[in-house]
Amino acid sequence: MIKEGAQVKERPIGVFDSGVGGLTVVREMIRRMPYETVFYYADTAHLPYGPRPLAEIESFALEITDFLISKGAKAICIACNISSAVMLNRLSCELNIPVFGMIPPGAAAAAEATRNGHIGILATEGTVKSGAYSRAITELKPDAVVLERACPPFVPLVENDMIADPCCRDTVAAFLQPLLDEGVDTIVLGCTHYPFLEEHIHDLIGNSAVVVNPAQRTVAMMQERLQGLDLLTEIAKAPQHRFYASGEDTSLRRLVAGELGLPEAPVYTIDLEKKNAAVTR
Ligand code: DGL
Repeated sequence: MIKEGAQVKERPIGVFDSGVGGLTVVREMIRRMPYETVFYYADTAHLPYGPRPLAEIESFALEITDFLISKGAKAICIACNISSAVMLNRLSCELNIPVFGMIPPGAAAAAEATRNGHIGILATEGTVKSGAYSRAITELKPDAVVLERACPPFVPLVENDMIADPCCRDTVAAFLQPLLDEGVDTIVLGCTHYPFLEEHIHDLIGNSAVVVNPAQRTVAMMQERLQGLDLLTEIAKAPQHRFYASGEDTSLRRLVAGELGLPEAPVYTIDLEKKNAAVTR
């Protein structure tokens, strides 16, 4: 249990997304920083974020970060590309704790990975509309050709547990193939839900392109920065992760148990307006 007065380094890292996508980032955090405690917030009441106006994404992020900080977060990871596109700069300036987002690390990894300078981005409508990946990549590699493709069906496929459904591979192919036809040699998974579709993506791509999952670089940067700030926990014991959902939590419970291997971790539903939490497991 995290105590209010716990030394800062023993406090949790607050992570959020619209749904279960950010668990692909938590998976990487657990792999690299196994003693860090994660408090994860899935804003399933507002899922999907992709088609929403950017002003809404902004207000959700403010409310969620407030909540995570009230729970003692020593750092925030925006494990959502669209929220990173809209809010990373603002939260980094306004909060007095470190804030991490997906796009700068994903862009850096893609700029390094490409050989022919043609990079494809698979993302939600909002992230594509923001143009954040194109800007971040061309800042690092001005001659890069960045092709962004919005994939509206992907998040529902993941949230509704349809990855093994026969239609899933065809749907992924329909969005991926046009990028491959354009000659990209690097594909960025520009939504944290998409690594759950990685098997189909790898299968369809074969050796023709490299797949970049921004979670890997994001978590590596997080670890390095927290280490530099002397904010990594010093206690090598089992972390006390917690998971919160603002709405439906079936997929969250399933994936926390199955993908993260944490069947005992508590999952709460919480209404941030009323601030009342109920344990659902
Ligand atoms: N997982 C989120 C992202 O990385 C958003 C998915 C959605 O709700 O549209 O952009």
